[in-house]
Amino acid sequence: MNSFSKFLEEHPTYSATRTLDDLRATEFARLDGRGHVYLDYTGSGLYTASQLREHTEMLAMHVLGNPHSASPSSTEMTRQVERTRASILKYFNGTDDYTAVFTLNASGAIKLVAEAYPFEVGGRLLLSTDNHNSVNGIREFASAKGAAIDYAPLTRPDLRIDMPAIEALLAQADPARFNLLAFPAQSNFSGVKHPLSLVDTAHHKGWDVLLDAAAFVPTNRLDLQLVTPDFVAVSFYKMFGYPTGVGCLLIRNSAMGKLKRPWFAGGTVNFATVQGRMHVLAPGEAGFEDGTLNFLSVPAVEIGLAHLERTGMDTIQARVNCLTDWLLSKMLELRHSNGRPMVRLYGPTTSTMRGGTVTVNFYDPNGQLLDYRRIEELAGLEGISLRTGCFCNPGAGETAEDLTEDDMRAGLAHGEDITLPLFLQVMQHRGGKSAGAVRVSLGMASNFADIERFLGFASRLRDQTTLTIGLVTFDIESCRVIRDGS
Ligand SMILES: Cc1ncc(COP(=O)(O)O)c(C=O)c1O
Repeated sequence: MNSFSKFLEEHPTYSATRTLDDLRATEFARLDGRGHVYLDYTGSGLYTASQLREHTEMLAMHVLGNPHSASPSSTEMTRQVERTRASILKYFNGTDDYTAVFTLNASGAIKLVAEAYPFEVGGRLLLSTDNHNSVNGIREFASAKGAAIDYAPLTRPDLRIDMPAIEALLAQADPARFNLLAFPAQSNFSGVKHPLSLVDTAHHKGWDVLLDAAAFVPTNRLDLQLVTPDFVAVSFYKMFGYPTGVGCLLIRNSAMGKLKRPWFAGGTVNFATVQGRMHVLAPGEAGFEDGTLNFLSVPAVEIGLAHLERTGMDTIQARVNCLTDWLLSKMLELRHSNGRPMVRLYGPTTSTMRGGTVTVNFYDPNGQLLDYRRIEELAGLEGISLRTGCFCNPGAGETAEDLTEDDMRAGLAHGEDITLPLFLQVMQHRGGKSAGAVRVSLGMASNFADIERFLGFASRLRDQTTLTIGLVTFDIESCRVIRDGS
C-alpha cells in the first residue's frame, strides 16, 4: 500500500476535503507551478488568485478618495469601509455586541488595548507564558502604571496552560480593581489550542480578557456569541494572505468604556481646540482609528472573508487536522541508523486540541543539535518555505527547552549585544540546550504532497553530522562568527 492510501485509510475524513485540491489547482496554481512547498501559514496565509482579481477590479471600477467626507469619491469609500466592518462583525458573529476597529495588524490591535487599559496599583496583568511578544509587551504599560504582573506557567512537555496554576493566579485578583488576562487562542509556537473556557472563568473572577486570535482564526471559527472576550486581536493576512496592513481589534461593547485613549489624532475627535487645549473623542471605533486608514486595502478583507466562507472553515480544519496528525506521527518515527530519534517535537504529539503548527529541532546521531538556520537554508534550496528562530514567543521556547533564569542571565550578561544566534551559542556552552527551533505550519492550501516533500527533506538529515550547531562559532565577546566549519 502506498503512503497516500495508508494516509487515507487512517484519515478517512480527508476525502471530504477534496474541494481544497480543486482550489489548489486553480486558485493556488502558482505553488505547483513553481514546485514550491509552502509551510509557513502561521507566518502568513496565502491569497487566492481571485481575491486579487476581485480587489483590483473593484479598485479599477470606482473613483475612491479618502473616506469620511461628503464628496462622491469619499462617500463611496466610506460605504466600502463600513460594509467591510459589518462583514467582519458578521463573520465573527459579534454584530450586536462588538465594535470592530481597523488596525495595521494584530500587534496594533493589542497595543490599542495595552495603552488604553486602566492598569492601576492594586490591579493585575496576567499573561500566559505562551504569548507572542506583541502580547508580552503589554507588561510595559502595566508596570508603568503600577499593576502587578504575573505569568501563568505551561505544562511540559505538552506546553499547555497549567490550569490549576492559572486558576490560582486568577483567584488573586481584587475584583474591585482593573485586571487583564491576555492569552492566545492558539499558540504560534506549539500549535496548542488553549481552552477558550478560560474567558468565562476569568470573567467570573473579576478579570477582563484580551484574546490573541491571530494564529487561531486562519483554521478555526471564532464565534463571539459562544466565547465573549472583551478584546480580540486579529491580522487578516494570516487568515487569507491578502491584504497585508489591515488587522482589527474587536471590542466587546460592554468593555468599551474602560479604555481611555492616551492621546487623540486626526479622525479620532469630534472636536479639538488649540486655544481651549481640549478635545472630545469620537465615540465607538472612530475614537481608536488614528489618522487615515489603509482604506484601499480594507475592502479586500470583505473579499477574503467571503472566500473563507465559500471554502468552509470546517473543511479547512478537517484537512489541516488530518495532515498534522500524519506529519506528527511520521516526524516522531524518524530515526538515525543507530536507532536514536532524529527529531525532538515541542508540544502535543497528537492533533487533539492543537492546530497545524509543528515545531521541532533536529539532532545528529550523537544527540547533538543541528543548526536550524542551516536547515532553513537547505529546505529553501529544495523549494520548501518553513520558518526557524523563536517565532517572537520566548516564553513557549524557554519552557520547551527548560531554559532557566540562570540561562537567561548568562545570555543577558552580554548586555545589548545579545541576539538569538549569540544566545544559542551561549546555550551550547552551557550543556547544549537550544534557543530556537524549526517550525512548519499548515493551512488552507496544504496537501499530502507538501507533507511528503517535507518528510523526504527531513529524512535526508538521517545520520547527518555536518550541520551541528558547534560548526558555526561565535566569538562570545564580539558576537562575530569566528569559525564557520559548515
Ligand atoms: C499568536 C500571534 N499573535 C500575534 C501576532 C502578531 O501578528 P502581527 O505581526 O500581524 O501583528 C502573531 C504573528 O505571528 C501571532 O502568531
